[in-house]
Amino acid sequence: MGRAFVYVVLGGGVAAGYAALEFARRGGYSRGELCIISEEVAPYERPALSKGYLLPEGPSRLPKFHTCVGANDELLTTKWYKEQGIELVLGTRVISADVRRKTLLTATGETISYKTLIIATGARALKLEEFGINGSDAANICYLRNLEDADKLVNAMNSCSGGNAVVIGGGYIGMECAAALVTNKIKVTMVFPEKHCMGRLFTEKIAEYYENYYTSKGVTFTKGTVLTSFEKDSTGKVTSVILKDGNHLPADMVVVGIGIRANTSLFEGQLLMEKGGVKVNGQMQTSDSSVYAVGDVAAFPIKLFDSDIRRLEHVDSARRTARHAVAAILEPSKTRDVDYLPFFYSRVFTLSWQFYGDNVGEVVHYGDFTSSSARFGAYWVGRGQITGAFLEGGNREEYEALSVIVRRKTKVSDLSELKKQGLAFAIQE
Ligand code: FDA
Ligand code: NAD
Repeated sequence: MGRAFVYVVLGGGVAAGYAALEFARRGGYSRGELCIISEEVAPYERPALSKGYLLPEGPSRLPKFHTCVGANDELLTTKWYKEQGIELVLGTRVISADVRRKTLLTATGETISYKTLIIATGARALKLEEFGINGSDAANICYLRNLEDADKLVNAMNSCSGGNAVVIGGGYIGMECAAALVTNKIKVTMVFPEKHCMGRLFTEKIAEYYENYYTSKGVTFTKGTVLTSFEKDSTGKVTSVILKDGNHLPADMVVVGIGIRANTSLFEGQLLMEKGGVKVNGQMQTSDSSVYAVGDVAAFPIKLFDSDIRRLEHVDSARRTARHAVAAILEPSKTRDVDYLPFFYSRVFTLSWQFYGDNVGEVVHYGDFTSSSARFGAYWVGRGQITGAFLEGGNREEYEALSVIVRRKTKVSDLSELKKQGLAFAIQE
């Protein structure tokens, strides 16, 4: 049993949706030549799962957040794919890939062949078992990567209103889920090994602001320790989380966000890997010229960082790398190497921040870190140039101004002057 396509997108997440959009905009394929294979439903905007999806009132549900919602583009529902002549092979897992033969084998036993493949397999949530802690398959322990996870989380929240949740991990998932749990009237304790939350990006000062804000919302922080095991009742539900320091935290539910691993396993030994992902060049092309990789799974050169290879785990990068790969596939001679400015953001409670660039170098903080209607920021300065910029509570123009100075690597001659000027430094450039 088998089918043949010219273009196959393997994986149906954020990057796959934007690849489809770019194919449709450019034309360049005929009906039935392009297919997306995914374990999930039609591509959707994954960030909704930790935001609108978890709201206690009027939560967002599909089809409302299929690809391109909010981007002034058409919502890419299954109807759209049909109209565009793009085949969706959904609910289907690919279990092996043969890059030399240009074939994929699905769990249903079908062989799908391609001329050009785009790997958009994203990533999976790391499990506690991978850190030697057992029992994370309990009914009230939740991870968050896909719709199934989100539904489990919503059910757990609904069944323990007024109860206690323990959030394991102080990264993006931990912070966004803790806020959602509080909004759902659940008492939250966050547990993570670092000295402060969002260790991969936040400075101690930014983290302190966030932790104080969360504390004011009733969240308790247990930092610098990890869990060792769970206590469960006779039905197998977790009743408490046992920490390395011997403390027991009562838990009606647990949310785990301890990082991800890129889904590269189908291609290990067949394609070059780097930074835990599939290595690509500036055209998003892998070490096999018929295979491209985009989104969380791709490790690509960032021109702005002297072409250092990075694997980013953010939605903007997934969208842009996917569109770039399609441009490179359809119009190789006209497509320059990708020149991406890393951009991250988050929204929790009434707070929201954006970050551009790389958080390396000396940090210069500015603004008001004291009030609850926060407006503060930080610049990172390396070799006398701006390398990164963070702003809490900015508006569109301000964020745009920051992105410009990071992209231009604006020179900084005096750090104390930069601190004094704060946001004005970017605005007046
Ligand atoms: P993505 O994970 O979206 O899609 C991969 C797809 O491939 C999945 O559908 C998967 O099932 C499928 N797949 C994998 N292996 C397969 C196989 N063998 N066979 C078939 N199908 C297979 N970022 C940000 O910048 N701002 C934000 O606010 C958020 N918020 C956020 C919330 C939550 C809950 C998560 C989990 C993540 C975010 N992110 C984010 C990160 C962002 O969502 C992420 O970077 C993108 O989804 C990456 O897009 P990809 O398409 O690369 O992977
Ligand atoms: P993360 O890398 O942001 O954070 C992982 C956290 O796990 C660390 O901060 C650390 O505190 C914790 N940790 C690691 N080992 C631990 C252990 N043994 N015990 C307890 N804690 C431990 O990863 P995440 O929060 O799981 O997020 C998953 C993915 O989803 C990331 O790729 C992230 O970029 C993405 N995401 C992004 C956003 C956003 O950009 N706004 C929102 C949600 C999710």
